[in-house]
Amino acid sequence: MPVPKAELHLHIEGTLEPELAFALAERNGVPLPCADTAALREAYRFSDLQSFLDLYYGLMAVLRTADDFTELADAYLARAAEQGVRHAEIFFDPQAHIARGVPMGVVVEGLGAALDRAEERHGVSTRLIMCFLRDEPAASAMATLEAAKPYLGRITGVGLDSAEVGHPPVTFREVYEEAARLGLRRVAHAGEEGPPEYVREALDVLGVERVDHGLRCLEDPSLVERLVRERVPLTLCPLSNVRLRAVDVLEAHPLRTMLDAGLVATVNSDDPAYFGGYAGDNFDAVRAALGLGPEELRTLARNSFLASFLEDDEGRRER
Ligand code: HPA
Ligand code: ZN
Repeated sequence: MPVPKAELHLHIEGTLEPELAFALAERNGVPLPCADTAALREAYRFSDLQSFLDLYYGLMAVLRTADDFTELADAYLARAAEQGVRHAEIFFDPQAHIARGVPMGVVVEGLGAALDRAEERHGVSTRLIMCFLRDEPAASAMATLEAAKPYLGRITGVGLDSAEVGHPPVTFREVYEEAARLGLRRVAHAGEEGPPEYVREALDVLGVERVDHGLRCLEDPSLVERLVRERVPLTLCPLSNVRLRAVDVLEAHPLRTMLDAGLVATVNSDDPAYFGGYAGDNFDAVRAALGLGPEELRTLARNSFLASFLEDDEGRRER
């Protein structure tokens, strides 16, 4: 039995497996740039974050209807549950869909239909986190937050993703202030490819409760000290880091160093259809590559529930 865990860093669009992409492409009459699923998998050789994002945004074109989003999320929840995920906090990228004519309501209602039956079907509790694209202007993020207002009952928090370098957190100060006023929880990607200063800004300016990735905090010992002291969780994604060349090989991943330093590290899959594995695969891979023992695996699993947005009473049940 895989260890029970929470997944806190998962882009639902990044769970689009080639088989489902081709099925939806046919159903919706959307052309794909590859002849078949094997050719598509061949294209999954990335040199950095941007080379991945180009393919990731392109492939989303097949997602058109609420049913498409329901099917996507239901397939993810089934796979995640098989690998021991009991709670999932799921990112989605509304701007990427709105830009191609798929309204917020279609996306949220479609995902929501799968999430509504996730406990019963898969034994997985869920939350939705709406991410802003940091390489789009802050005004677009603000408009997206406005468009989400009718759906806030379904949305727990906001996040920040897409191309990091050159797009510092401070750009989104007002958007995050408004999100806080609306009672939304706040997270942001920082320190994946961007410098440690972006991690500081995410904390100080955006008021985030967790940092997504946060890998490059290690370049700044005083930042590490602060993250440890304030017990700020980091949602690490080891297989993603290798595929996007943030680390050379899994054996060189700093996860163990981070645990030893006292950081509240968690292990997640990011975009499992693209990076070679779901949450359990990431656990298995770091266990093998870094020689993690049962105590370290238990710490990672415990951290995942502690770092989640489950209320205390729910969290106790999960743990
Ligand atoms: N980083 C930034 N943006 C993303 C990612 C990521 O790992 N995955 C999907 N959007
Ligand atoms: Zn991510």
